[in-house]
Amino acid sequence: MRKIILLTALCGFALPVMNTQAEDIDFEKQIYPLIKASCVKCHKPAHEDERGRTRKPKGGFVLTTKVGIMDSEGEEGEKFIVAGKPDESRMLQVTKLPIDDDMHFPPEGKAPQWTTADKELFAKWITDGADFGDWTEDPKPLEDVEWDGKEKE
Ligand code: HEC
Repeated sequence: MRKIILLTALCGFALPVMNTQAEDIDFEKQIYPLIKASCVKCHKPAHEDERGRTRKPKGGFVLTTKVGIMDSEGEEGEKFIVAGKPDESRMLQVTKLPIDDDMHFPPEGKAPQWTTADKELFAKWITDGADFGDWTEDPKPLEDVEWDGKEKE
């Protein structure tokens, strides 16, 4: 009888651990594509456009590097990412503000909105510790993802 109890207890421990491992979020494959599609158009490094004019990242925020994402702070000093705390992470907050709020990003019609599932995945990535894996930067930060103007379902 003891053995059975012990086994049950062990399984109870082992299962959740195995589950989280199976669901580990891959920043490069699952999270960065969301940022690339919806944010990078405005938050890429300073560069020259086709007409030779210097284009600066909006608000001064670059979201194409790990350092840019982790070191950026909003107007009132809110860190863009607070590992473990999605509700305190400005990058997630702004996507959840009412669409007509001046601080809602991306602005309506400029880039695809994150769906509820996208926001939940982003939140889970933060909750799990905001692990970037080996990713440090987008190798092609100036390249945009084309958008047909239609919101995702
Ligand atoms: C069409 C351009 C555009 C897109 C697309 C865009 N942003 Fe921004 N973003 C801006 C501008 C402009 C500012 C500066 C606003 C200001 O300071 O008034 C800004 C500021 C921010 C801030 C700082 C807010 C604060 O509290 O000061 C965050 C966080 C942010 N953007 C996140 C994002 C995220 C996340 C995405 C994609 C989901 C995104 N942005 C997409 C233009 C954009």
